[in-house]
Amino acid sequence: MKVSKVCCIGAGYVGGPSCSVIASKCPEVTVTVVDLSQERIDAWNSPDYNLPIFEPNLADVVKKCRGKNLFFSTDITSAICEADLIFISVNTPTKTFGLGKGRAADLKYIEAAARMIADVAIGDKVVVEKSTVPVRAAESIQRILTANTKKGCAFEVLSNPEFLAEGSAVEDLLHPDRVLIGGEETSTGRAAMEKLAWIYQHWIPKDNIILTNTWSSELSKLAANAFLAQRISSINSISAVCEATGADVAEVSHAIGTDTRIGSQFLKASLGFGGSCFQKDVLNLVYLCEALNLPEIAAYWQQVIDMNDFQKRRFASKIVNCLFNTVTDKNIAILGFAFKKNTGDTRESSSIYICKYLMEEGAKLKIFDPKVEKEQILMELNHPNICNDPSRVEKLVTIHKDPYDALKGTHAFVVCTEWDEFKSYDYSKIYNSMLKPAFAFDGRRILDWKNLQQLGFQVEVIGRKTWLNGTY
Ligand code: NAI
Repeated sequence: MKVSKVCCIGAGYVGGPSCSVIASKCPEVTVTVVDLSQERIDAWNSPDYNLPIFEPNLADVVKKCRGKNLFFSTDITSAICEADLIFISVNTPTKTFGLGKGRAADLKYIEAAARMIADVAIGDKVVVEKSTVPVRAAESIQRILTANTKKGCAFEVLSNPEFLAEGSAVEDLLHPDRVLIGGEETSTGRAAMEKLAWIYQHWIPKDNIILTNTWSSELSKLAANAFLAQRISSINSISAVCEATGADVAEVSHAIGTDTRIGSQFLKASLGFGGSCFQKDVLNLVYLCEALNLPEIAAYWQQVIDMNDFQKRRFASKIVNCLFNTVTDKNIAILGFAFKKNTGDTRESSSIYICKYLMEEGAKLKIFDPKVEKEQILMELNHPNICNDPSRVEKLVTIHKDPYDALKGTHAFVVCTEWDEFKSYDYSKIYNSMLKPAFAFDGRRILDWKNLQQLGFQVEVIGRKTWLNGTY
């Protein structure tokens, strides 16, 4: 039943933290996380623990185990050969070309990982699909493995989707609501599921480990993210109604969230959800429904994405409207570029789209984020879908290391990420350094808007009318 060696293919936001926690909780298991990217592996191995991803408390977990029973390597072949159990944690981005472009998940990295396992594996292996995949992907992995199986090898494929959230990955991994394991309803399938469950049972109560069939497990991950994204889109739709009436979306969220049937989580209005998963996984579900000839279901979930796009456009339009219908050549500070606080991840960040819409209007953007590097911001803004003229980005965008520097001489600032430090800035000093009227747009509802108004700011927050009868 026991597992002595684990390999994880993919040292990203999921593979790195999840296997570090496994190593810390299972000292008798050797865990090797492998990746094609030498740069990423070097960062995981960096002597000063300057890890490739920022997650609270992650460096401490890595410090505890690295070099003992946790290893990061580019030697994928050896790690696969030696392991009893292999996690596949590679990326599954939305396809940008061909059939299913813009909706289906691109499974080329999953397939490459499966083929690599089939090529080099010796002996029996449990192969665990941890990446988020469309329903029945495990079946494809099993077919690739079976078709290439060498004598004396046997593979059992499991689905074990990851539910961690960036920004709280370590905490989520240490105290998950549940762990989900899907497998074949055969004796070998059961045995494989029990092997994987044995690892998690080192720190997670048995009752919180849910065993299902493979397809239920795969679909549950897509459905979970679709439900979470749907709640954000639902409250964001209500935020627009609040701004047009006199209701306050925080009061509405609280009032409906105290109903135990609804619950209070994921009811915070904002300028829209971002991150690598929600949009990708909902689109994946939409594509799946279309492929299954369920167009009504596909249209239903597509609305979650449409509402999210609308919220970002709506907020950007509001900025332009408030700034007297023109932002051309106006300086606007963008506070926050990560898709949420406590991460340096910018994938699908709402901030990117706010910048895109404002750049289209000719605004000059002064961007500050406490954790995102300049190169990363410029890479996102120079993506052809955002701005296909690099000279325009160069002309309109400056990246700042100091927030006060970014805010100086601006007509407005826009809070795009809910970083805690934004709450404690000296807004009196900021107000004095800005052009007047000085506008504050809080896309995350983290600032004390009454205080800002008292200081003289013209304030706009998501989901609340901050002015009455046309005056602030
Ligand atoms: P990521 O892009 O940060 O990491 C993936 C890593 O896999 C990259 O470092 C890449 O170089 C490596 N890779 C790709 N093909 C490889 C191969 N053949 N051999 C070795 N390494 C290879 O992606 P992330 O965010 O860790 O996501 C991985 C999966 O987990 C995705 O399916 C995602 O949807 C899912 N997921 C992500 C969550 C998140 O918060 N980021 C949460 C839950 C699930």
